[in-house]
Amino acid sequence: MNICGTGSSLPKFELDNQRLTTFLDTSDEWITTRTGIHTRRVITDETLLGMGLEAGAKALEDSGLEAKDIDFILCSTVQADTVTPSLACLIQAGLGAQCAGVDINGACAGFVYALDLAGALIDSGRARHVLVVCAEAMSRLCDWTDRSTCVLFGDGAGAAVCGPGEGYLRARLTSRGDGEIMYMRPNPGNSPFATAAQPYAPMHMAGQEVYKFAVSTVPKDLLALLEGAGLTPDQVDHYLLHQANKRILDAVRTRLRQGEEKFPSNIHCRGNTSSASLAILLDELNRAGHFRKGDLLALSAFGAGLTTGSCLLKWTKE
Ligand code: UT7
Repeated sequence: MNICGTGSSLPKFELDNQRLTTFLDTSDEWITTRTGIHTRRVITDETLLGMGLEAGAKALEDSGLEAKDIDFILCSTVQADTVTPSLACLIQAGLGAQCAGVDINGACAGFVYALDLAGALIDSGRARHVLVVCAEAMSRLCDWTDRSTCVLFGDGAGAAVCGPGEGYLRARLTSRGDGEIMYMRPNPGNSPFATAAQPYAPMHMAGQEVYKFAVSTVPKDLLALLEGAGLTPDQVDHYLLHQANKRILDAVRTRLRQGEEKFPSNIHCRGNTSSASLAILLDELNRAGHFRKGDLLALSAFGAGLTTGSCLLKWTKE
């Protein structure tokens, strides 16, 4: 599988740290030093469908393909605009594609999960081109009175068109099931028969637990992936890590003994956009001409679940 096109879309409203201090007991200094985030985009009148369609259309344009060329659509989202139908079905209709699609939820690792599934479909011959769209509205899931979570997240969508080729080298997906460290519970409905329904709960996160999980697991996953491929950390040209916290990026980079220039980041202006994070970063770098044909990319993400997803891929676009 190769990545043959990328796209992204962001809400227009830019929420800076200063604005957060008008309704939360927080400060620009705390958020900046603890996370590296200065601003993030947050949905006002946008929808995930609108952003997903824009990101998908841009990825198609970048790949030189048309909607009719897509054989399957994989959408990654923690929660779409509608519980049903899936975002993938609405994107199929909106783009005018004539194929099936399905939503997946791998939390913040969702882009790598979706790439891996796209690779399986393409490499097995079940599909020639797969459109992956990651669209997230974390601002809908957060408790905006909880300063320990709502300052971290942003909204947005990123997409990639995947096609046949040898670029996708190998992946490592893991899950360590844990329902306490990070969770959100939806409205339980009103069945008169449910005796164990749990009430609605907005995003809850034990930040330090996730932090420790990330800084121990991400380097381990990357080193295992590289070792399996017979490569060393020095041979990777670009490390694209889930944009959750600048301190996590720095800890992973130090562990791998690599220079900052190999760890491009947009966390300062995007915040954590869950599974869209890596897809948006990939698109922004692609459009900035950051990659050269033949470059080796290592992608790695972690999130609720707890999940991790890492992969190695050669950049095959001109
Ligand atoms: O996509 C996966 C998602 N999650 C993550 O990647 C999160 C990983 N974790 C982290 O990034 C960090 O743990 C956080 C940024 C969430 C928190 O940073 P920390 O250095 O671990 O801070 P902490 O949770 O230990 O809190 C330190 C203090 C606490 O006050 P006390 O108990 O020391 O008095 C918090 O109440 O900072 C306080 N605090 C804040 N203060 C100002 C927590 N949030 C804020 C805030 N503004 N927004």
